Amino acid sequence: MEKVALLTGAAGGLGQALAAKLVRDGWTLVLVGRDGERLRAAYGNSHCQIIADCSTVAGAHDMLEQARVAGLQPTALAHCVGNIRLGALHRVSEEDFQAVLTANLVSAFHTLAAFTASLRESAVPGAAVLVSSAAARVGTPNHEAVAAAKGGVEALVRSAAATYANFGIRVNAVAPGIMDTPAAARLIGSPAAREAAARQYPLPGIGTSAELAELMAWLLGTTGSRVTGQVWSLDGGFSSIRPLVK
Ligand SMILES: NC(=O)c1ccc[n+]([C@@H]2O[C@H](COP(=O)([O-])OP(=O)(O)OC[C@H]3O[C@@H](n4cnc5c(N)ncnc54)[C@H](OP(=O)(O)O)[C@@H]3O)[C@@H](O)[C@H]2O)c1
Repeated sequence: MEKVALLTGAAGGLGQALAAKLVRDGWTLVLVGRDGERLRAAYGNSHCQIIADCSTVAGAHDMLEQARVAGLQPTALAHCVGNIRLGALHRVSEEDFQAVLTANLVSAFHTLAAFTASLRESAVPGAAVLVSSAAARVGTPNHEAVAAAKGGVEALVRSAAATYANFGIRVNAVAPGIMDTPAAARLIGSPAAREAAARQYPLPGIGTSAELAELMAWLLGTTGSRVTGQVWSLDGGFSSIRPLVK
């Protein structure tokens, strides 16, 4: 049977790295973004490209419908949508907080709902992987908005994994530290900022989207077939250890 993966946020840094990995693993791709020109700039005329806003119920439903019309039934979902807007709680505007919630949590909720509904309608098993953040796992200054949204994503993953286990649908998340993608450009744009960010990690350095893509592909494939309801960190130890201070 053809392996079809649905990638949201496909024009983003992580989306592009994961698309490349999934193609190497033999998946047929359905790529979703809000901007057709950004998708085309990233992928040319390759793959099935769908313009939809998966942060709305209608948009999430529409992307699955467009895939169906194209004759494709995704059995894997990689939800690579999100944004990072940092600032202390008392400085985050209502508008910025809503934007963070919409991009990170609301989009995850509606996309996962549409994906699981489509699998259930066709009575086929499948797997989803969502993207959290190290900041959801350990208190990190100025990350209140994104930490709240990603904490919601992690709770969503566990509950949905429980609901759909009997249908053969697995739901997991990955939780990276800072990665070299457009979303983090403002945080690590200068050499000094980059070095300071890298020093925060017990294993010093800046992660790459290619490393995270490997883990996400593993979770989506048969390799991860016994894994559900998990959030896997890929953060150089940031959320779980304190190195010996020398
Ligand atoms: N980069 C990091 O350091 C880092 C760290 C921790 C977690 N993450 C998470 O990793 C995931 C991938 O991010 P990235 O680093 O690849 O960032 P990115 O390059 O900015 O890509 C994010 C994608 O999300 C889409 N998007 C943003 N807001 C949206 C909204 N309201 N509705 C629908 N789509 C929206 C954009 O799609 P369009 O093309 O449609 O605009 C964009 O392609 C995100 O969940 C992010 O929170 C990143």
